[in-house]
Amino acid sequence: MTKQNKFNKNRWRLAIGLLLTVVFTGASAQAGTDKSGKGMDAFITTLMSRMTLEEKIGQLNLPSAGEFTTGTATNSDIGKNVKEGRVGGLFNIKGVDKIKAIQKVAVEESRMKIPMLFGMDVIHGYETTFPIPLGLSCTWNMKSIEQSARIAATEASADGISWTFSPMVDIARDPRWGRVSEGNGEDPYLGSQIAKAMVRGYQGDYSQNTNIMACVKHYALYGAAEAGRDYNTVDMSHLRMYNEYFPPYKAAVDAGVGSVMASFNVVDGIPATGNRWLLTDVLRKQWGFNGFVVTDYTGINEMTDHGMGDLQTVSALALKAGVDMDMVGEGFLKTLKKSLREKKITLAEINAACRNVLAAKYKLGLFTDPYKYCNAERAKTEIYTPENRKIARQIAAESFVLLKNDKGVLPLKKAGKIALIGPLADAANNMAGTWSVATVQNRSVSVLRGLKNALGNAATIAYAKGCNLTGDAALEERVTMFGKTLNRERDTRTPEVMKAEALKIANESDVIIAAMGESAEFSGESASRTDLDIPPVQQNLLKALVKTGKPVVLVLFAGRPLTLNWEQQKLPAILNVWFGGSEAGAAIADVLFGDVNPSGKLTMSFPQNVGQIPLYYAHLNTGRPLPEGKWFQKFRSNYLDVSNDPLYPFGYGLSYTTFTYSAITISSKSLKGSQVLKASVTLTNDGKYDGAEVVQLYIRDLVGSISRPVKELKGFQKIWLKAGASKTVTFDITPEDLKFYNSQLKYDWEPGAFEIMIGGNSRDVKSTQVNWER
Ligand code: BGC
Repeated sequence: MTKQNKFNKNRWRLAIGLLLTVVFTGASAQAGTDKSGKGMDAFITTLMSRMTLEEKIGQLNLPSAGEFTTGTATNSDIGKNVKEGRVGGLFNIKGVDKIKAIQKVAVEESRMKIPMLFGMDVIHGYETTFPIPLGLSCTWNMKSIEQSARIAATEASADGISWTFSPMVDIARDPRWGRVSEGNGEDPYLGSQIAKAMVRGYQGDYSQNTNIMACVKHYALYGAAEAGRDYNTVDMSHLRMYNEYFPPYKAAVDAGVGSVMASFNVVDGIPATGNRWLLTDVLRKQWGFNGFVVTDYTGINEMTDHGMGDLQTVSALALKAGVDMDMVGEGFLKTLKKSLREKKITLAEINAACRNVLAAKYKLGLFTDPYKYCNAERAKTEIYTPENRKIARQIAAESFVLLKNDKGVLPLKKAGKIALIGPLADAANNMAGTWSVATVQNRSVSVLRGLKNALGNAATIAYAKGCNLTGDAALEERVTMFGKTLNRERDTRTPEVMKAEALKIANESDVIIAAMGESAEFSGESASRTDLDIPPVQQNLLKALVKTGKPVVLVLFAGRPLTLNWEQQKLPAILNVWFGGSEAGAAIADVLFGDVNPSGKLTMSFPQNVGQIPLYYAHLNTGRPLPEGKWFQKFRSNYLDVSNDPLYPFGYGLSYTTFTYSAITISSKSLKGSQVLKASVTLTNDGKYDGAEVVQLYIRDLVGSISRPVKELKGFQKIWLKAGASKTVTFDITPEDLKFYNSQLKYDWEPGAFEIMIGGNSRDVKSTQVNWER
């Protein structure tokens, strides 16, 4: 085509485009202010009446732009597909200008001018990165968690993103699974509170250009992969699904989440992506979900490997099950038309999916302003701001869990000689943690930088790496994020030379800070482990450091619960810092020097060894329980070689101060119907520091129509108390808190005796009993 022809053709396109834009914006501007839903339905009906079958199927297609990938990309020419109406949304692309350019093609050059969704895994922050979700959950602070999601949404939306693949709310009780780092731990109640807070934080009411759509994932049960091996089989009773694994997804739906991502695993033998019971009966009919369902990355194609048939068969299966959008695999794009012709699917099914996707765009306001999220000015001023980083620093400090602190080794004085040793001490690009795709990895504050900034001239600090992350270079090669090694350099000096250097500064110091543990890529997707010790090369170094006789403080990096028996026995202090995000090093200094008193509490039990897994506090009693405080008894449910107890229980975490709990006082010992039980304790801060304590309420249903857990979290309050102060902490308990799904899957409570427990973790609780009749 000659230049002139091309020009003329473009002028025509532009003219038609403008005309249609006027028609559409006329309809949508009106629609944009209409909250009744009627305006939206009418708008979409009119829009769809003008769409071809191919264009409708195009809306169901979600290709990856390929900047960060977690699988094989199968997408062909994206630009051409957008222009020709074969793309509903795009993800794995970063930058407002790039996104705006593609949106422009969609709304100016495609026939229907339908705006696109732009998705991204904004999992724990955008460029300002917050702690990994497992760490965030340890704050037990819903305000902080909501705020982190709010800031993530503000930054992402300034850069063109309208949709995040978060929150991930998979209950996880197997720390071998690398993706425990992305979730909120083992508890359905806490997980549900967090799910709601995150959805609120991301979506708001969609009215602002800082509100983006959330996507709860991975629906469902992904966290129960057998043996903790990623993508592995899941098999579970419906009772357990409804009582333990479903609640956080449902909580997100109740909070109005706009989209749901189907998981990779099977549920009752059928892959979630093709499971009509899961995606339609439970999600839409029982829970009333009215958003859209997207697959996970090539989730449809993977059904072929699950043994469900060829691409055409599995694509039809997914559509019929309730999938609306196909991530990456192009199964819908390539086969739905043929399946319709062959009457394997119906037009109504395609229409329903298309409507759900268009409704999401409508709710986001994209028909009113397709460039709502493409404001280059915002991108310059609202991302990685000093204010956002300040909040990230506070929240990071709040996520750390003090696991051990003998004789008040911590907080450290800002004086004397400090030796900072370990492969994670000067590792800025390791601080953000897994799933931080938008982060500029090496911009985060390292421990070394954080300590130096905090100390100024008050103390001297010497640093040595001491060893590589693992002694196994080949393992380190496998440990990647999105298939990239992030240019982490292995030190090529011999282990002996590195160790000698570390021991020299250790011997000259007053205190040793050891920054060790997992690297960021040891957890996350496709990062399962069978050995949960700190890698041996690091442990050997730690042992040598302990031998110096100097106090050793372990600053532990981890994306999952690790097995820390030796460390617990031999080290005076362990501060678990997960991966704290952009400001990790600054926050670590804040806590080590006592400018912030740690208040994090574990949301996943730490096992003593891998053989105990799965290990979780809300287990059933069994018919042969071990009496409390005992280890081995023949013919009881226990092990010959290790007690049943975790090393650190769910809910556990120390403070620089100490809290004591009074006995529980209750408003009544026998209750009836919908009465409210008030259960209180007096909490006293009887240590030397001001601090915060997470007061936890657990309930046990002592007699039921099904066997019930030994305790279940039913409430918590994070209380700040000045040193020496006391406060009465009261929980209002109603029959709502006693409900569970019975064997008919009916959600109700059953009268009888209940044990009420309150304490600072799931093990150390005060307890009393009540009777509750109908
Ligand atoms: C992960 C999802 C993620 C998706 C898109 C998948 O491999 O399982 O959690 O949202 O990729 O990046």
